[in-house]
This record gives sequence, C-alpha cells and structure tokens, in this order.
Amino acid sequence: MAHLKELTLENLVATITESTNTITTYLKKNNIQGPSLHEDSPVSLPPVPEVLGARFKLLEAIDAMQNLVSGTAYHNSADLLFRVHDTSILDVLNQFDFYSAIPLGGSATVPEIAKKVNLPEKLVRHVLNYAVHMYYFAETAPDSGVFVHTSNSAFFARNPGASDWCTHAIAQTGPFSLHVAESYRKYSAGKEEPSQEVIESAASIADLDRTGHPVTFWDYLEHSEEGKPKGYRAALFARAMGFISDALAPSGNLEVWDDFEWGSLRDGSVIVDVGGSRGHDMLKIAQKFPQHKYIVEDRPSVEEAFNAAIPAEWRSNISFRAHDFFSPQPVQADLYYLRWILHDWPDKEAKQILQNLIPALKPGALIVIKERVKTPATDGKGNYVLPRAVRRQIALNDAQMHTAFNVFERSVDQWRELVLNADPRFEILSMDGKGAQVNKGIVKIVWRG
Ligand SMILES: C[S@@+](CC[C@H](N)C(=O)[O-])C[C@H]1O[C@@H](n2cnc3c(N)ncnc32)[C@H](O)[C@@H]1O
Repeated sequence: MAHLKELTLENLVATITESTNTITTYLKKNNIQGPSLHEDSPVSLPPVPEVLGARFKLLEAIDAMQNLVSGTAYHNSADLLFRVHDTSILDVLNQFDFYSAIPLGGSATVPEIAKKVNLPEKLVRHVLNYAVHMYYFAETAPDSGVFVHTSNSAFFARNPGASDWCTHAIAQTGPFSLHVAESYRKYSAGKEEPSQEVIESAASIADLDRTGHPVTFWDYLEHSEEGKPKGYRAALFARAMGFISDALAPSGNLEVWDDFEWGSLRDGSVIVDVGGSRGHDMLKIAQKFPQHKYIVEDRPSVEEAFNAAIPAEWRSNISFRAHDFFSPQPVQADLYYLRWILHDWPDKEAKQILQNLIPALKPGALIVIKERVKTPATDGKGNYVLPRAVRRQIALNDAQMHTAFNVFERSVDQWRELVLNADPRFEILSMDGKGAQVNKGIVKIVWRG
C-alpha cells in the first residue's frame, strides 16, 4: 500500500487517469457500453482480469480522493458523520416504493409521485432533493419538479428482490448497529477475548421488540410485526437471501454450481441443503443436474417462502423438510450442503451443527461448506494479497456478522480447527478462499467414520 504521505491529489489523479484509460480502452476494443448514471446503463463493468485490477485501483484511489477533496474537517464534521441520512432516505425510497412511482423511460411530477407514494408533496420534494445527491433519480431541469430514473433507482425498479435486500439491510438489521458499542461495553471491555455468546451480540441486546430480554436474530425473525402478515420477517429474510445469493461480488460472480463437481456424484444422489432457506441454490443446481434428489431443510417458518419460490414442476426433485440443525440429522444423504450457515454461529454452536450431522453420515458422505474462507492478508513481505476494495468487503462482512451474531468470518486455520474439533473423522479434502470472490469460499469435507 502506498505510504499515507504518497496519497496526494497528484498521485491519486495519476492512478485514476491510468486506471480509467485501462478500462475504457478495454471497453472500446470489445465494443462494450461503458457505465453511466443514465437508467439504461449496464449495472457493472465486465468482471474480466483486464478490467478488474484497474477497477480495484480506481476504487481505492477514488475513496482516498473523496476524503482529500472533502478535507478532513468537513469529512469528520458533516460528510461522513451524517451518512445516516443517506440510509434513512434509501429506506424511505424503498418502503414507499418511489421506484415504481416514476415510469422507466419516462418522468413524473412531484404531485404525481406524491399520489403514488401516498405522502405529502412537501415530503416528496424533501426526499427527492436529498436522493438526487446520491444519484437516485434526477430532476429533468433545475427546479422543474419533474423527475426521471437514474441507473441506481432503475436498478430497484427492475429488480424487485433488491427491495427485500434493502429492507433486510436497513430496516431489519440496521437498528442493531446502534447497539454495537453497548455490547462491547457490557460483554467485552476489559477482557482478553471478545464475547462469543450470540445472546450478547448487538442484535440480541437491541431487543427491538421490547420483550425485556435479549433475543437472538433468529427468534426476532419469528416475532410478528404490527401491520404485517404472519411470518413476514422470516419470509422477507428468505427472499433477501435469494436476492443476495445472485448479487455480484466485487470481482464478479461464480455461478452457484461452479463451485462443486455436481455431475461427478452418482445419478440419484441425495443432497441435503442444511439451512437452505427457500431453496434458491438447490433450484439452480437441480436445473443443471436434475438427476439428483434435493432436500432443503430449514426452520418451519421458512416453508411458505420455499413454496412460493420453487415452481411446481421442480417439486418432485426438490422438497422441504422442517428441521432444527441443533437436533440430530435424520436424513442419510450423499452430500450435505451448508451455505452461509456456520458463519452465523460462534464456534460452540457451529461445532454442534457439524456434530449433529454425524448420526446420518455414511462413510464417504460429503459435506460442502460454502462460506468466506479468509486467506492470509499479506504475502509475508509486507504486501497485501487482496485489493483494498476486497479487504473492505471482508471488513464489512465481519461487521455485519459480528453485529448480528458475535462472530467473525473464519480463516483457513479457524476452519481447520473447527472441523477437526467437531470430529477427527471429518477429513478436509480442500479449502479455497476463491481470491477476490470473497463470498464464494468453499470447504470440502468427507466423512471417514
Ligand atoms: C444466512 S441464511 C443462509 C440461507 C441459505 N443457506 C443461503 O445461502 O442463502 C441462514 C439460514 O439458516 C436458517 N436457520 C437458522 N437457525 C436454524 C436452525 N436452528 N435450524 C435450521 N435452520 C436454521 C435460517 O432460517 C436461514 O435460512
């Protein structure tokens, strides 16, 4: 990393110019439309090696540039501190569905929008006046009162799943963040090690429903919410997981079936997706490999979301089973798939989840864990292995998981320790952090019992 003194306006602008040239040259050469803020813009740059390196450099330089140009004083007294309003305005745009109030390819006036979102015109103006500064919607001319979509708002208008993810990120889990310091103070301050109790996490002590005692995130999802149908929170979370499983990692996206040799399993293999939510991964894999039988296990409250997500013609291949993974696994399968499950739990519970598979395991049964696998941050010679934009995403994931569950994403060594502590008959076949595709790490295990 450049020494802090080298992060100057001149140096940064040189990086920005050089990296931008690399990207635009590639786009021109391959006749690919470049991104803009117009609603018809492509939603990402091509995730190819020729572009990725320059893109990462650019992201890093722009971040630093923004900080320098804002100036430390403004950055720390207004700009950064009040980003909370970016979040609340995004929440309003989403909850009041401003995205459908303006037609794609068209425009709408403030009174027209106000009618659709059912808010006073004064508030609509306030929300849009703020939103345009984040490039959500644009006014056709200064003070015209007529608004059109930008690439950002159009993304929400075109992807209904993005709304669920936004609700999950802001309304469902955002309020937990204000309890992080309280959790540190109560349970970790003055100790050698941070708390590893789920019930002491910021999410648990937030007790947003005012029950009078700490509530785990999973139990919070089971509570009903005023003005919402029964099971609303669990169904919303399941849909949000479905959306984010398809969303792009900073370096593009591997398809869900690319991580494992599904075709190498004998035909008719039984695959259990432990904590598989509404079955989004199994549906995609089954569509590629219909020769297998897929069982999605999750909490009973998720079944409705599963029923809504899996088309009738796939029901003979993919079924739902209500199962608590803190009880012994009854289904004898060829492969158990756990995607983004163990990272929700500190070691004590994660070990228990793995041990609960044992009663059903036959020798040679496979366990595929798809999680972030943190690889060493540096090459041992003082250089970072991953670009800053990717390290930022890892830090962000850590913050999200720690807020909700008092757990950090695991490193290669931590995965090894967890799996082998659960039972030495688990043999790790391979572990792969997938480089910059941080959300696609994989641990492959075989049962040698
Ligand atoms: C982070 S989500 C991952 C969902 C899915 N595997 C995916 O990758 O999209 C964790 C899942 O674990 C489920 N879960 C939580 N506690 C559970 C329990 N005790 N037994 C079974 N499933 C549980 C949740 O309902 C949720 O679907």
